[in-house]
Amino acid sequence: DEDVYILAIESSCDETAAAVVKNGREVLSNVISSQIALHTLYGGVVPEIASRKHIEKINQVIREALKEASMTLEEMTAIAVTYGPGLVGALLVGVAEAKAIAYAAKKPLVGVHHIEGHVSANFIEHPDLEPPFVCLIVSGGHTHLVIVKDYGEFEIIGRTMDDAAGEAFDKVARAVGLGYPGGPKVDKAAKEGNPHAMEFPRAKVGGSAYDFSFSGMKSAVLNYINQAQMKGEEICVPDLAASFQNAVVDVLVSRAVAAAKEYGYDKLAIAGGVASNSALRAGMKAACEKEGIRFYYPSQIFCTDNAAMIGAAGYYEYINGARAGWDLNAVPNLKL
Ligand code: KG4
Ligand code: ZN
Repeated sequence: DEDVYILAIESSCDETAAAVVKNGREVLSNVISSQIALHTLYGGVVPEIASRKHIEKINQVIREALKEASMTLEEMTAIAVTYGPGLVGALLVGVAEAKAIAYAAKKPLVGVHHIEGHVSANFIEHPDLEPPFVCLIVSGGHTHLVIVKDYGEFEIIGRTMDDAAGEAFDKVARAVGLGYPGGPKVDKAAKEGNPHAMEFPRAKVGGSAYDFSFSGMKSAVLNYINQAQMKGEEICVPDLAASFQNAVVDVLVSRAVAAAKEYGYDKLAIAGGVASNSALRAGMKAACEKEGIRFYYPSQIFCTDNAAMIGAAGYYEYINGARAGWDLNAVPNLKL
């Protein structure tokens, strides 16, 4: 039972990140170089720019992560890296870097699923949280409701049929001129608005009871904006933001809590960028309290993309014996 130190690398989208994590739960460093300012110019992530920026930053970010942890590469037990899902060019930068470091330093290499990383962000600040539990993963690219049966073992019970939750936030924000990334902007604007000012549909078509659909809701918001513009009416952005957010949160909370009850779990966690949404956190907290379910969520810094969560997931993969070969490749549409 020696301590396990994981050097983790994450580059699946627009954050170049590295972290040192001890025994899966203790974050010794968590360095994130965000490209958001660059992509804001284009209203979204430009894959080619993302890859180039990762190449520029990755060595520096890794050096900083080791320095902040006051540790050397020699002292690391293993190297963990996100190998999918994500943008292929962006992922490749992290994967190639991790392979080079692991080979040169003669360390084992562990490939980590990005979504497993998001889920594992919950282990960092909650020493008492252990599987099994239900987890709602809501990010810019993913909306999944899963049962975390064991470390690294998931059963997907619901997913989005169309847009991801974060994508819907981003599109609505763009339509009302709030800019990119839209989630935090909508969250902020909604604080000044009335969540009952407008009624947006919660309806869901097909799929299982725990599947999601956000494109109808998003279209309703876009229609509302178009009609107001045609009539020359002013749109109250805070009211619109609050009403849209309320509709999304309603659906996410009711399905996640219903799943925990039906499958008989008394622990529910949220993960991914949208998990930092203040209304989602408040709504989940209230609903879970009412149902006697323990509710877990990561700090904001561990909700959006970071490498500490990859280090947490990488630790459990490592102690379960997972090892990647030198042929590890980026898998843009990697399944959970
Ligand atoms: O997990 P993440 O950093 O990247 C992906 O793996 O996709 O999630 C980014 C997404 C974006 O869509 C962003 O708008 C959303 O998370 N997001 C939020 C908030 N903060 C970030 N959505 C709603 N409310 C927030 N406070
Ligand atoms: Zn992510």
